[in-house]
Amino acid sequence: MRIYKAKDEAEMSRKAANIISAQIILKPDSVLGLATGSSPIGTYKQLIDWYNKGDLDFSQITAVNLDEYQGLAPDNDQSYAYFMKEHLFSHVNINPANCFIEDGLAEDPGAECIRYTELIRGLGGIDLQLLGLGPNAHIGFNEPGEALEKDTHLVKLKETTIKANSRFFASEDEVPKYAFTMGIKAIMQARCIVLVANGEAKAEALYKCICGTISSEAPASLLQLHNNVFVVADEAALSLVEKEIPIDKEVTI
Ligand code: F6R
Repeated sequence: MRIYKAKDEAEMSRKAANIISAQIILKPDSVLGLATGSSPIGTYKQLIDWYNKGDLDFSQITAVNLDEYQGLAPDNDQSYAYFMKEHLFSHVNINPANCFIEDGLAEDPGAECIRYTELIRGLGGIDLQLLGLGPNAHIGFNEPGEALEKDTHLVKLKETTIKANSRFFASEDEVPKYAFTMGIKAIMQARCIVLVANGEAKAEALYKCICGTISSEAPASLLQLHNNVFVVADEAALSLVEKEIPIDKEVTI
């Protein structure tokens, strides 16, 4: 695991965008696993900026998103499909036919989960997976619990996740209670993983991710078992980790 310490969110975003750019340049037909939420927004902005400068080409890229709320249509402005259009897809030359996300309106959720799992398998897996980190150490919407599901599944969101995500909705009641998420297997089989985390609210989860016992009670801790993970985080998010692992600018553990 390589850990990069950024002084703030802007530096974190630039560093993460750097790694993703390298992937796109070295393998223009990469399959990128993408995340929503507030953490990757700056990274997407930076990628758009470099695209506008002519430094990046998304024309051969395939995107598979981690998760989608159940019950939200793609044109609902709270859906993750909408988020991706707003924050990345509509600003670059990615082919919309190559952008995939679970169907929040699927009538048969079980069939939708199988479809999405098979889709990722059919693409040959993920070259680079971008992850945010839940305050409860979830990745995707793989929530802490006794066991983790390996394939795409429908998950009942934890109260802590609903609370954390209510900042994007008019009220907590409006946050969907269920979401589709990519399972832990597709994430862990990604050939490269980039996790971004910023702010003090992520310090405990990031400590569990990097230094904690490997446990389904802290899904991000599984990343310790992956051999090509970049954690890009700001000083506030790394504050607890740094009590155990001194980090100048970067460190490989
Ligand atoms: C989003 C996702 C979630 C978020 C996490 C952190 O696609 O999979 O795991 O990455 O909840 O969200 P933010 O970045 O909003 O703090």
